[in-house]
Amino acid sequence: MVLDVRNIEALAAELAPLHPADILKRAQQEYPADLAISFSGAEDVVLIDMAWRNKLPFRVFTLDTARLHAQTYRFLDTVREKYAVEIEAYFPQPDAVQQLVRTKGYFSFYNEGHEECCAIRKVEPLRRALAGLRAYVTGQRRDQSPGTRAEIPTVQLDTGFSLPGQDLVKFNPLANWSSGKVWQYIREHEVPYNPLHDIGFRSIGCEPCTRATNPGEHEREGRWWWEEATKRECGIHIINLGNQ
Ligand code: ADX
Ligand code: SF4
Repeated sequence: MVLDVRNIEALAAELAPLHPADILKRAQQEYPADLAISFSGAEDVVLIDMAWRNKLPFRVFTLDTARLHAQTYRFLDTVREKYAVEIEAYFPQPDAVQQLVRTKGYFSFYNEGHEECCAIRKVEPLRRALAGLRAYVTGQRRDQSPGTRAEIPTVQLDTGFSLPGQDLVKFNPLANWSSGKVWQYIREHEVPYNPLHDIGFRSIGCEPCTRATNPGEHEREGRWWWEEATKRECGIHIINLGNQ
Protein backbone atom coordinates (compact mmCIF):
# COMPACT_ATOMS: atom_id res chain seq x y z
CA MET A 1 0.00 0.00 0.00
CA VAL A 2 1.41 3.37 -0.94
CA LEU A 3 1.27 6.08 1.67
CA ASP A 4 -1.24 8.85 1.02
CA VAL A 5 1.05 11.85 1.34
CA ARG A 6 -1.96 14.12 1.90
CA ASN A 7 -2.19 12.53 5.35
CA ILE A 8 1.44 13.03 6.24
CA GLU A 9 0.72 15.16 9.31
CA ALA A 10 -1.65 12.54 10.69
CA LEU A 11 0.99 9.90 10.12
CA ALA A 12 3.60 12.03 11.89
CA ALA A 13 1.29 12.30 14.91
CA GLU A 14 0.71 8.55 14.86
CA LEU A 15 4.45 7.79 14.66
CA ALA A 16 5.56 10.37 17.23
CA PRO A 17 5.15 8.18 20.35
CA LEU A 18 6.70 5.08 18.73
CA HIS A 19 10.19 3.72 19.30
CA PRO A 20 12.48 4.71 16.40
CA ALA A 21 12.84 1.05 15.43
CA ASP A 22 9.07 0.85 14.96
CA ILE A 23 9.12 4.01 12.87
CA LEU A 24 11.80 2.41 10.71
CA LYS A 25 9.66 -0.71 10.35
CA ARG A 26 6.72 1.38 9.28
CA ALA A 27 8.85 3.27 6.75
CA GLN A 28 10.05 -0.04 5.36
CA GLN A 29 6.48 -1.36 5.10
CA GLU A 30 5.34 1.73 3.26
CA TYR A 31 8.30 1.85 0.86
CA PRO A 32 9.78 -1.64 0.66
CA ALA A 33 11.72 -1.00 -2.54
CA ASP A 34 12.37 2.73 -2.56
CA LEU A 35 13.78 3.62 0.84
CA ALA A 36 17.32 4.29 2.09
CA ILE A 37 19.00 5.52 5.26
CA SER A 38 21.05 8.69 4.87
CA PHE A 39 24.07 8.01 7.06
CA SER A 40 26.54 10.72 8.06
CA GLY A 41 29.07 8.54 9.88
CA ALA A 42 28.12 9.88 13.32
CA GLU A 43 25.72 8.71 16.04
CA ASP A 44 23.01 8.15 13.41
CA VAL A 45 24.61 4.69 13.24
CA VAL A 46 21.84 3.68 15.69
CA LEU A 47 19.40 3.66 12.76
CA ILE A 48 21.53 1.12 10.94
CA ASP A 49 21.79 -0.97 14.09
CA MET A 50 18.01 -0.90 14.60
CA ALA A 51 17.32 -1.89 10.99
CA TRP A 52 19.88 -4.70 11.19
CA ARG A 53 18.68 -5.96 14.58
CA ASN A 54 15.09 -6.05 13.36
CA LYS A 55 16.12 -7.82 10.17
CA LEU A 56 14.70 -5.09 7.99
CA PRO A 57 16.11 -5.07 4.48
CA PHE A 58 17.77 -1.69 4.27
CA ARG A 59 19.93 0.45 2.00
CA VAL A 60 22.40 3.05 3.19
CA PHE A 61 23.92 5.98 1.34
CA THR A 62 26.46 8.56 2.44
CA LEU A 63 27.52 11.87 0.95
CA ASP A 64 31.29 11.72 0.75
CA THR A 65 32.27 15.37 0.51
CA ALA A 66 35.97 14.42 0.30
CA ARG A 67 36.46 16.61 3.41
CA LEU A 68 35.52 14.11 6.12
CA HIS A 69 37.84 13.23 9.01
CA ALA A 70 40.10 10.20 8.60
CA GLN A 71 38.28 8.73 11.63
CA THR A 72 34.96 9.03 9.83
CA TYR A 73 36.25 7.19 6.75
CA ARG A 74 37.51 4.39 8.97
CA PHE A 75 34.22 4.32 10.83
CA LEU A 76 32.25 4.06 7.58
CA ASP A 77 34.24 0.92 6.82
CA THR A 78 33.68 -0.44 10.34
CA VAL A 79 29.93 -0.07 9.81
CA ARG A 80 30.12 -1.60 6.35
CA GLU A 81 31.84 -4.66 7.75
CA LYS A 82 29.90 -5.11 10.98
CA TYR A 83 26.48 -4.83 9.35
CA ALA A 84 27.52 -6.42 6.04
CA VAL A 85 25.95 -3.55 4.15
CA GLU A 86 27.11 -1.66 1.11
CA ILE A 87 27.46 2.02 1.89
CA GLU A 88 26.45 3.76 -1.30
CA ALA A 89 28.85 6.70 -1.41
CA TYR A 90 27.97 9.73 -3.49
CA PHE A 91 30.78 12.06 -4.45
CA PRO A 92 30.65 15.65 -5.67
CA GLN A 93 31.03 16.37 -9.38
CA PRO A 94 34.79 16.67 -10.00
CA ASP A 95 34.45 19.63 -12.37
CA ALA A 96 32.52 21.65 -9.81
CA VAL A 97 35.04 20.92 -7.02
CA GLN A 98 37.93 21.68 -9.35
CA GLN A 99 36.44 25.02 -10.33
CA LEU A 100 35.72 25.98 -6.70
CA VAL A 101 39.16 25.06 -5.42
CA ARG A 102 41.02 26.63 -8.36
CA THR A 103 39.19 29.92 -8.04
CA LYS A 104 38.69 30.19 -4.27
CA GLY A 105 41.05 27.75 -2.58
CA TYR A 106 40.23 25.04 -0.06
CA PHE A 107 38.71 27.14 2.70
CA SER A 108 36.48 29.72 1.00
CA PHE A 109 33.64 28.92 3.44
CA TYR A 110 35.40 30.69 6.34
CA ASN A 111 35.14 34.01 4.50
CA GLU A 112 32.16 33.55 2.24
CA GLY A 113 29.91 31.19 4.22
CA HIS A 114 29.35 27.52 3.68
CA GLU A 115 26.56 27.63 1.08
CA GLU A 116 28.64 27.37 -2.08
CA CYS A 117 30.86 24.54 -0.92
CA CYS A 118 27.96 22.62 0.66
CA ALA A 119 25.93 23.06 -2.52
CA ILE A 120 28.70 21.37 -4.50
CA ARG A 121 29.82 18.76 -2.01
CA LYS A 122 26.52 17.83 -0.33
CA VAL A 123 23.36 19.17 -1.94
CA GLU A 124 24.00 18.21 -5.57
CA PRO A 125 25.18 14.68 -4.60
CA LEU A 126 22.10 14.33 -2.36
CA ARG A 127 19.87 15.08 -5.35
CA ARG A 128 21.51 12.20 -7.20
CA ALA A 129 21.23 9.90 -4.17
CA LEU A 130 17.53 10.64 -3.86
CA ALA A 131 16.72 10.48 -7.56
CA GLY A 132 15.63 6.85 -7.49
CA LEU A 133 13.94 6.93 -4.09
CA ARG A 134 10.39 7.65 -2.94
CA ALA A 135 11.39 8.01 0.72
CA TYR A 136 14.48 8.23 2.92
CA VAL A 137 15.45 8.16 6.56
CA THR A 138 17.61 10.66 8.42
CA GLY A 139 19.07 10.79 11.92
CA GLN A 140 17.88 14.34 12.63
CA ARG A 141 16.73 15.10 16.16
CA ARG A 142 14.90 18.08 17.61
CA ASP A 143 17.54 18.58 20.28
CA GLN A 144 20.35 18.85 17.74
CA SER A 145 19.70 22.46 16.88
CA PRO A 146 17.30 24.74 18.77
CA GLY A 147 17.62 27.31 15.98
CA THR A 148 16.60 25.05 13.10
CA ARG A 149 15.35 21.63 14.25
CA ALA A 150 13.12 22.25 17.27
CA GLU A 151 9.98 21.40 15.29
CA ILE A 152 10.99 18.55 13.03
CA PRO A 153 8.35 15.81 12.82
CA THR A 154 8.90 12.04 12.62
CA VAL A 155 7.85 12.13 8.98
CA GLN A 156 7.41 14.96 6.52
CA LEU A 157 7.30 15.77 2.83
CA ASP A 158 10.71 16.88 1.63
CA THR A 159 9.60 19.77 -0.51
CA GLY A 160 13.22 20.77 -1.02
CA PHE A 161 14.08 17.58 -2.89
CA SER A 162 10.77 16.28 -4.31
CA LEU A 163 10.73 16.00 -8.10
CA PRO A 164 7.91 17.44 -10.22
CA GLY A 165 5.02 15.00 -9.91
CA GLN A 166 6.81 12.79 -7.42
CA ASP A 167 6.68 13.49 -3.71
CA LEU A 168 9.65 12.54 -1.57
CA VAL A 169 8.95 11.46 1.99
CA LYS A 170 11.52 12.04 4.74
CA PHE A 171 11.39 9.97 7.91
CA ASN A 172 13.17 11.28 11.02
CA PRO A 173 12.73 8.36 13.45
CA LEU A 174 15.03 9.92 16.07
CA ALA A 175 13.25 13.29 16.03
CA ASN A 176 11.95 12.90 19.58
CA TRP A 177 14.96 11.16 21.06
CA SER A 178 17.49 13.12 23.04
CA SER A 179 21.22 12.79 22.56
CA GLY A 180 21.25 10.99 25.95
CA LYS A 181 18.82 8.35 24.69
CA VAL A 182 20.85 7.77 21.55
CA TRP A 183 23.99 7.28 23.62
CA GLN A 184 22.19 4.96 26.03
CA TYR A 185 21.17 2.85 23.02
CA ILE A 186 24.74 2.85 21.69
CA ARG A 187 26.13 1.65 25.05
CA GLU A 188 23.40 -0.91 25.74
CA HIS A 189 23.65 -2.49 22.30
CA GLU A 190 27.42 -2.12 21.96
CA VAL A 191 27.01 -0.23 18.72
CA PRO A 192 30.30 0.84 17.11
CA TYR A 193 30.69 4.62 17.03
CA ASN A 194 32.91 7.26 15.47
CA PRO A 195 35.99 7.64 17.74
CA LEU A 196 35.80 11.44 17.36
CA HIS A 197 33.00 11.29 19.92
CA ASP A 198 35.58 10.22 22.52
CA ILE A 199 37.58 13.41 22.05
CA GLY A 200 34.82 15.95 22.48
CA PHE A 201 33.06 15.91 19.11
CA ARG A 202 29.31 15.71 19.61
CA SER A 203 28.05 16.67 16.15
CA ILE A 204 30.21 15.49 13.26
CA GLY A 205 30.35 16.78 9.70
CA CYS A 206 33.23 17.81 7.43
CA GLU A 207 36.63 18.21 9.08
CA PRO A 208 37.16 21.95 8.45
CA CYS A 209 33.63 22.82 9.56
CA THR A 210 33.43 20.68 12.71
CA ARG A 211 35.09 21.18 16.08
CA ALA A 212 34.92 19.65 19.55
CA THR A 213 32.63 21.47 21.97
CA ASN A 214 33.29 22.50 25.56
CA PRO A 215 31.10 21.37 28.45
CA GLY A 216 28.10 23.70 28.59
CA GLU A 217 28.18 24.50 24.89
CA HIS A 218 25.37 23.19 22.69
CA GLU A 219 26.44 20.48 20.23
CA ARG A 220 25.57 22.72 17.27
CA GLU A 221 28.34 25.09 18.42
CA GLY A 222 30.65 22.49 16.95
CA ARG A 223 29.39 23.14 13.43
CA TRP A 224 30.05 26.24 11.24
CA TRP A 225 30.74 28.11 14.49
CA TRP A 226 31.69 31.30 12.66
CA GLU A 227 28.12 31.64 11.32
CA GLU A 228 24.82 32.65 12.91
CA ALA A 229 23.08 29.79 14.78
CA THR A 230 19.85 30.09 12.78
CA LYS A 231 21.75 29.54 9.52
CA ARG A 232 23.59 26.40 10.52
CA GLU A 233 21.96 24.09 8.00
CA CYS A 234 24.03 23.03 5.03
CA GLY A 235 21.26 22.75 2.47
CA ILE A 236 20.50 19.06 2.70
CA HIS A 237 17.89 19.88 5.36
CA ILE A 238 16.90 23.13 3.72
CA ILE A 239 13.24 22.67 4.65
CA ASN A 240 14.22 23.23 8.29
CA LEU A 241 14.90 26.86 7.45
CA GLY A 242 11.28 27.42 6.41
CA ASN A 243 10.80 30.99 5.33
CA GLN A 244 13.84 32.36 7.13
S1 ADX B 1 24.03 18.50 8.71
O1 ADX B 1 23.11 18.91 7.67
O2 ADX B 1 24.17 19.48 9.80
O3 ADX B 1 25.32 18.07 8.18
P1 ADX B 1 23.77 16.50 10.70
O4 ADX B 1 25.23 16.27 10.75
O5 ADX B 1 23.15 17.18 11.85
O6 ADX B 1 23.34 17.23 9.34
O7 ADX B 1 23.07 15.09 10.50
C1 ADX B 1 21.68 14.93 10.51
C2 ADX B 1 21.32 13.85 9.53
O8 ADX B 1 21.53 14.31 8.20
C3 ADX B 1 22.17 12.59 9.64
O9 ADX B 1 21.71 11.73 10.65
C4 ADX B 1 22.00 12.01 8.26
O10 ADX B 1 20.77 11.34 8.14
C5 ADX B 1 21.99 13.24 7.39
N1 ADX B 1 23.37 13.55 6.93
C6 ADX B 1 24.17 14.54 7.35
N2 ADX B 1 25.36 14.50 6.72
C7 ADX B 1 25.29 13.45 5.87
C8 ADX B 1 26.20 12.85 4.95
N3 ADX B 1 27.43 13.34 4.76
N4 ADX B 1 25.80 11.76 4.26
C9 ADX B 1 24.57 11.24 4.44
N5 ADX B 1 23.67 11.76 5.29
C10 ADX B 1 24.02 12.84 6.00
FE1 SF4 C 1 32.26 22.33 2.42
FE2 SF4 C 1 32.26 22.67 5.08
FE3 SF4 C 1 29.97 22.26 3.71
FE4 SF4 C 1 31.75 20.29 4.06
S1 SF4 C 1 30.53 21.33 5.66
S2 SF4 C 1 30.67 20.76 2.21
S3 SF4 C 1 33.70 21.42 3.86
S4 SF4 C 1 31.35 24.05 3.59
